[in-house]
Amino acid sequence: MMKGKKEAMGQRGAARDCRILYAVVIGVTMGIFWAYLRPHGFFRPATPSTLVVDRVGGATSKLDGAVLGLEAKVAMLEREIKRLENENKELSVFKIKNDVLQQEATAAKKQLEALSPSVKIGPPGTVKSIRTNPKVQPDDSVNPKLSALLKKIAVNGELIVGISNNNVQEMVKIWFESIQRAGVTNYLIVALDDEIAKFCTDHDVPVYRRDATIAKVQADTGDNHAISGSKFHLLREFLVLGYSVLLSDVDIVYLQNPFKYLHRDCDVESMSDGFDNITAYGYDDVMDEPSMGWARYAHTMRIWVFNSGLFYIRPTVPSIELLDRVTAKLAKEKAWDQAVFNEELFNPSHPGYDGLHASRRVLDFYQFMNSKVLFKILRKEANFADYKPVTIHVNYHPDKHARMLAIVEYYVKGNKDALKHFPDGSEW
Ligand SMILES: *[C@@H]1O[C@H](CO)[C@@H](O)[C@H](O)[C@H]1NC(C)=O
Repeated sequence: MMKGKKEAMGQRGAARDCRILYAVVIGVTMGIFWAYLRPHGFFRPATPSTLVVDRVGGATSKLDGAVLGLEAKVAMLEREIKRLENENKELSVFKIKNDVLQQEATAAKKQLEALSPSVKIGPPGTVKSIRTNPKVQPDDSVNPKLSALLKKIAVNGELIVGISNNNVQEMVKIWFESIQRAGVTNYLIVALDDEIAKFCTDHDVPVYRRDATIAKVQADTGDNHAISGSKFHLLREFLVLGYSVLLSDVDIVYLQNPFKYLHRDCDVESMSDGFDNITAYGYDDVMDEPSMGWARYAHTMRIWVFNSGLFYIRPTVPSIELLDRVTAKLAKEKAWDQAVFNEELFNPSHPGYDGLHASRRVLDFYQFMNSKVLFKILRKEANFADYKPVTIHVNYHPDKHARMLAIVEYYVKGNKDALKHFPDGSEW
């Protein structure tokens, strides 16, 4: 009797907690929307009288407006963080929302510092430039249908997007099942044919049907690369609608919620093809040319490429320009989209070329892992059994489906032998 009563009360309490959480989530979402729809806050200098004053006042008026807007935004974000901190801290959704707010507040503060006309350069070590560019104003008119869909799916203004046709149906299934298992609801398949669209709908997977507009030159590079090329074009609308996208190939297994591990401080945050600290994060590769005598050593900067199969891209001007540049280049010449993506991200301005200068972050290669790290290194290490990556991309091996299945066997079903019989690399 007593026990039953207690449980019933517990349930009522839980229902009330739920309602409070809902109210907070709605409040926070509206706050964020307000900040982006009205970045100048209540101080918008749009009335005629202010404009007259501004003209008399000189050229700093626009800057002042931006500063005031940012101050309002910082204050708003800080209020929301305080409010959230007082709420239920256990829920992982809340943890991510809190991370997002903290990161946005940090970015807004840095933008404010950089914009502020009264800024003085402090002592060495205190000077920090901006890498978190402001988000664009969302424009729903570019695709009202997609906009309506994303309003339903996205969480904290972000989502995973996978692009697929029916040729890779088996992998798509492992992909979305792993995402669901990781507790992620904000994901979407862009379906390039009706068969895969139906397959997703049948499995309750959010789907957006879209024709692939493959440029003629790309059409001859083989199916996989053709999809890869068109994804930069498809992605543009998501960014113009104001969303951050974790773009994901479908040969990736999710083992944890990736949104817990993002920094959200750069235009592009990407997994690496590198397999240790130096190859993933960059190093000085010294070339030796003995005939040069005293100057025999030539220093070069090297980094293993960003893997364009899994990257988080924020809706900023440099991000959209990046997508446009890659799309334009792939439409003109037969090229590997990942190579073009990296060239545009890394090449500096030089004669005849304006570099992009987007901000970039390499994700931890042990968290966002490639299959070389897993099969060549990690599975042989003693403490490997206790470690769980966030995602594993089977990018280094052509037997993708078999290795994806084995990864699920190992990490989800606990079969400790599941990875053993695969060779390190592929056998020719
Ligand atoms: C690699 O980098 C991480 C993070 O910076 C560091 O903790 C680790 O010790 C480094 N590993 C090696 C082998 O240098």
